[in-house]
Amino acid sequence: MRDFVGMFLGYQREEPRYRFQLAVTLRADGRLIGNCGVRLLAPGARVAEIGYELAPEHWGRGYATEAARAMAAFGFGELGLHRLQSNCVADNTASAHVLEKLGMRREGHLREAQWYKGRWWDTLLYGLLEDEWRGEWGGGSRE
Ligand SMILES: CC(C)(COP(=O)(O)OP(=O)(O)OC[C@H]1O[C@@H](n2cnc3c(N)ncnc32)[C@H](O)[C@@H]1OP(=O)(O)O)[C@@H](O)C(=O)NCCC(=O)NCCS
Repeated sequence: MRDFVGMFLGYQREEPRYRFQLAVTLRADGRLIGNCGVRLLAPGARVAEIGYELAPEHWGRGYATEAARAMAAFGFGELGLHRLQSNCVADNTASAHVLEKLGMRREGHLREAQWYKGRWWDTLLYGLLEDEWRGEWGGGSRE
C-alpha cells in the first residue's frame, strides 16, 4: 500500500497536474487504509475517472463511499469537471454499489473488456454529470 502512495505522491510533480490519487487514513489514528482519486483523461480535460481501493479489513464501513464522495466534490468543485466516470468489474458488487451511492448512472455493460488474473471480465461503465451532482448533493458537497 505504501509503494502505491509513493507513486501517487509523484503525481504532485506533474505540470500541469491532472491525477489526484490521495491516501485514505483513519480519522482516529491516521492509519493508512487505502487510496482514492480522480484522474483527468488528459491535462485540461473536464472529464475524469474515479477509483479507490481499501485494505480488506476495513471494507463494509462506508469508508470508500465517504472517500469517493469527497473526491467527487473536489472534482466537480475545484477541478471544474463536467463529467466523472468509472469502469468497474461487473462482479465487483461492492464497487458498483459505491458508485451508485455517489449518484452515478450505469451507462453500459462492456463484455470481456478487462484482462485480469488470467481471464477476461465484463465491466460496467458508470457516469455522473456536473448538473446531476449538483442536484444530488446541492452545490458540490454535503460533507
Ligand atoms: C470496492 C471497495 C473500495 C469498497 O469499499 P468499502 O469501504 O467496503 O465500501 P462501502 O462500505 O463504502 O460501500 C460498499 C457497499 O457495497 C455493499 N456491498 C458490499 N459487498 C457486497 C456484495 N457482495 N453484494 C452486495 N452489496 C455489497 C455494502 O453493503 C455497501 O453498501 P451499503 O452502504 O448500502 O450497505 C473495496 O471492496 C475494495 O477496495 N475492493 C478492492 C479494490 C476495488 O475493487 N476497487 C474498485 C475498482 S473499480
